[in-house]
Amino acid sequence: MCGIVGYVGSRNAVPILMEGLKRLEYRGYDSAGIGCVVRGKLKVVKKEGHLANLEAILPEGLSSTTGIGHTRWATHGGVNDANAHPQIGAGGKVAVVHNGIIDNYDALKKRLIAEDVAFTSDTDTEVIAQLAAKFLDAGDDPETAVRQTLELIHGTYGLVFLFADHPGLIIGARNGSPLVLGVGEGEMFIASDANAIVRHTPKVVYLDDGETVVVTADDFSTKDLRAAVVDKRVETIEWVAADTDKNGYQDYMLKEIFEQPESVARAFGEGGRLVPEFGTAKLGGLNLERRDFFDIRRVQIIAMGTAYHAAMIGAHLMETIARIPARAEIASELRCRNPIVEKETLYFAVSQSGETADTLMTLREIRSKGGRVMGVINVVGSTMARESDGGVYVHAGPEMAVASTKAFTSQVMSFVLIALLFARMRDLSLSDGKSLVADIGLLPDLMRRVLAQAEEVRRIARKYSSAASFLYLGRGPSYPIAMEGALKLKEIAYVFSEGMSAGDVKHGPIALVNEEMPVVMVAVKGDNLEKTIGGMEEIRARKGRVIAVTNVDDPRITRIAEDVIQVPETREALSPLLTVIPLQLLAYYIAVELKRNVDRPRNLAKSVTVE
Ligand code: F6R
Repeated sequence: MCGIVGYVGSRNAVPILMEGLKRLEYRGYDSAGIGCVVRGKLKVVKKEGHLANLEAILPEGLSSTTGIGHTRWATHGGVNDANAHPQIGAGGKVAVVHNGIIDNYDALKKRLIAEDVAFTSDTDTEVIAQLAAKFLDAGDDPETAVRQTLELIHGTYGLVFLFADHPGLIIGARNGSPLVLGVGEGEMFIASDANAIVRHTPKVVYLDDGETVVVTADDFSTKDLRAAVVDKRVETIEWVAADTDKNGYQDYMLKEIFEQPESVARAFGEGGRLVPEFGTAKLGGLNLERRDFFDIRRVQIIAMGTAYHAAMIGAHLMETIARIPARAEIASELRCRNPIVEKETLYFAVSQSGETADTLMTLREIRSKGGRVMGVINVVGSTMARESDGGVYVHAGPEMAVASTKAFTSQVMSFVLIALLFARMRDLSLSDGKSLVADIGLLPDLMRRVLAQAEEVRRIARKYSSAASFLYLGRGPSYPIAMEGALKLKEIAYVFSEGMSAGDVKHGPIALVNEEMPVVMVAVKGDNLEKTIGGMEEIRARKGRVIAVTNVDDPRITRIAEDVIQVPETREALSPLLTVIPLQLLAYYIAVELKRNVDRPRNLAKSVTVE
């Protein structure tokens, strides 16, 4: 939430910052701004609204070799130009961009106002700029001024400071909000996410909490809060910049939906994760000893939002394939309850970004109580990836649309592998393991067959796009898919929708059903099919308009449902990887029909780094 970028080098910083902000805009798009040093003075340009608004007011010929930029997701202070970042300290000597929340800003602000400091915004961030300005005025050098400021503020931050009197210098600081440094040849970059940097350099340094970095064009030095030097490893990231382009698609979301056959193939193919001859999976990153597979008695999976739906499927797979009691929890809820952490429980944290505050804080809580947490993470080098005891990268590649699609299917695929590995270490037979491995290998082609029906889904979307609300129903592994389909529709089309268990609907919510209510029902071959078809009859009997997503050719479904989206058959455990696609497309096309901004839905940001 909030995107930060900074540059120091010999090129003009302005286009580099603007291009970086474009890649970070998914983190927030309430307002945007850049600041740079021009002839010993700070030049700050900022504007409410999408980045295009800022672009439109950038002075022609604005040029500087040092600058910072920000794209905002508002927390403190409304959405307007004054509250956009960079925030500037009194005297115009220091500017700062911030991602996070300063908990004690109110007390600090009162103190500064009592000292006659005039504030120009309602943000918590301005307190940081004003404090740094005071220390600079008192004669501190920039690094000391930043350090003194950090000693006073409590909360979460990724920060980058810029100084009028020190062109060629930026200072970054991290506590709870990510910051990554990009190391180039005679130039340096800093950003809240490697996306903004990959185009310029693959060499990165991930800052950890409590670290600051002083950056010049040729050098950087990282220190902890006590000013002791910290040696950091320069890592090379593998993403190519093209991964973050739209490749001719209208939106990132559509591109990412269509990428799923490849991203899921990467999730099981990367590094030879499937071992066909032994009918198992190889997941070295879990760092588990043979004994662990027998000693683990339970699995608990934490996540938020879409990742939570993947976690629910993960728990289902762990129980049905590996026969280990497993449950998924909304991370923030588990944390509220002061989690009971058990030695024999293995914990998993699922997150695309690896930065979601609710999941991260719960991961930390579990680990602080001695629990072992495995990450199921997409973003390499993210905070959760670095703080977990081991884990699996899902290899979905950069996910740019705010609504998660390909990360979800890659998370589900990762749990298929984890469940297969545990199952084979415990009591799944070689032949059953081989058969599952063979079915996994077929999935990318089956996914392509689902995607080939996009036009049919678009037709259905048009037909129902004026409906005021939708229900989504499923059982077993299709229950989280119903929840995921409903979430996609809410978040990108702003249409009220509810995903629920097809068993639970008759215990109250069925009262909502009438001739205007589209009810999307997921019915797949397997243990739950008959009951799901029974549920469809009940919805139809109440005049609900059933849209069926199914992999069976059953005359009852064609009779009951007003529209049927047919997906290829696979075993029930793998069916979520196919049934979710029409639901992603349905939400997408309804949103397009309603003229929503699909990649940047209102009120949202991709990584929610506040609790
Ligand atoms: C919905 C969506 C969110 C995220 C959630 C967790 O499309 O993207 O619900 O799934 O905010 O984010 P990560 O996976 O980054 O932890």
